[in-house]
Amino acid sequence: MSSDSDAFVVSPMRDNWYQASSYYSSSFALITTVNEDGLTSIGPYQLSFPFEVIQRRSWMVVSRPGSNTHTNVSRTKKCALNFVEYNKDQIETVLKFGYPGQEPAEKMAYNTFDLIDSPTAGRESNDIFPKIIKEAYQVYECTLDVDRINENPILRDSVSAHLLLNIDNILLKERWYKNLEGGGTTMPEVPLTYGFRGASKFWFGERAEPYALPIPDLGPQHEVVHYEANRLDDEVRFTEDACKQLTGIPKAFLTQALQSIIGVAKQQGVSTIDLEFVQKLNAERSD
Ligand SMILES: Cc1cc2nc3c(=O)[nH]c(=O)nc-3n(C[C@H](O)[C@H](O)[C@H](O)COP(=O)(O)O)c2cc1C
Repeated sequence: MSSDSDAFVVSPMRDNWYQASSYYSSSFALITTVNEDGLTSIGPYQLSFPFEVIQRRSWMVVSRPGSNTHTNVSRTKKCALNFVEYNKDQIETVLKFGYPGQEPAEKMAYNTFDLIDSPTAGRESNDIFPKIIKEAYQVYECTLDVDRINENPILRDSVSAHLLLNIDNILLKERWYKNLEGGGTTMPEVPLTYGFRGASKFWFGERAEPYALPIPDLGPQHEVVHYEANRLDDEVRFTEDACKQLTGIPKAFLTQALQSIIGVAKQQGVSTIDLEFVQKLNAERSD
């Protein structure tokens, strides 16, 4: 059904407007936290997205205040964001997890996910660190940034709980790690949710087969170089000005060329590749 020729009408602003006044679909995280009895609990959160992506790695969760997740993470400061692939049977468990007012022990009685200790040293489950979901294709291990929440009136004074989470570790299943490092030829089967509808239903969706389109070649852009350059190594950073010098490299050779520059920087103990570094390198290479 196409709505191309329909007129736009104004939808009234309601609380939880993203689902009560409009359509917003995305995936969700299953957040594990530890309660006061030392029990790991699982809460599904759709309002959960990357927040700071350059230099700092953080995540934002918008929760109703007083959820187990909000209460637990406020006490322990630690949580894990578990991302699972689509599995029709387990979606029903996810839906049940989303019903408010259940104690973690009640949720664990019908839980169909396997909970395991984190493989991260020092993050084995205890009164602070939660277990993680074995079936997850990836897990972000996080710490609540209480200081920055309290410094920021929008986060501090909101009627929702805005959980600013610093990402301590990104864990990928080996298969997905290799896929990513190899350029990403396939994608996890990410489940979708469309949220609560009509007072009686919660909508989910199966993802369609993902496909890749080549990035349009709109000429060499330093932003593209900058993005690629700062993705390659977690110790060496390129400045924008340095990348402006590198726009002439054909796309097919870009990654290789950037890696070789990173190699030289590392040999010299340089962690920021700036304009001067690139100019010096170019001068040496043209000698
Ligand atoms: C798929 C799904 C996504 C949800 N997303 C959110 C959300 O983003 N924010 C929120 O406050 N509640 C959300 N809910 C409802 C919470 O899961 C619900 O408040 C639940 O009680 C949270 O669990 P917890 O108390 O163990 O943290 C969602 C529910 C489902 C099923």
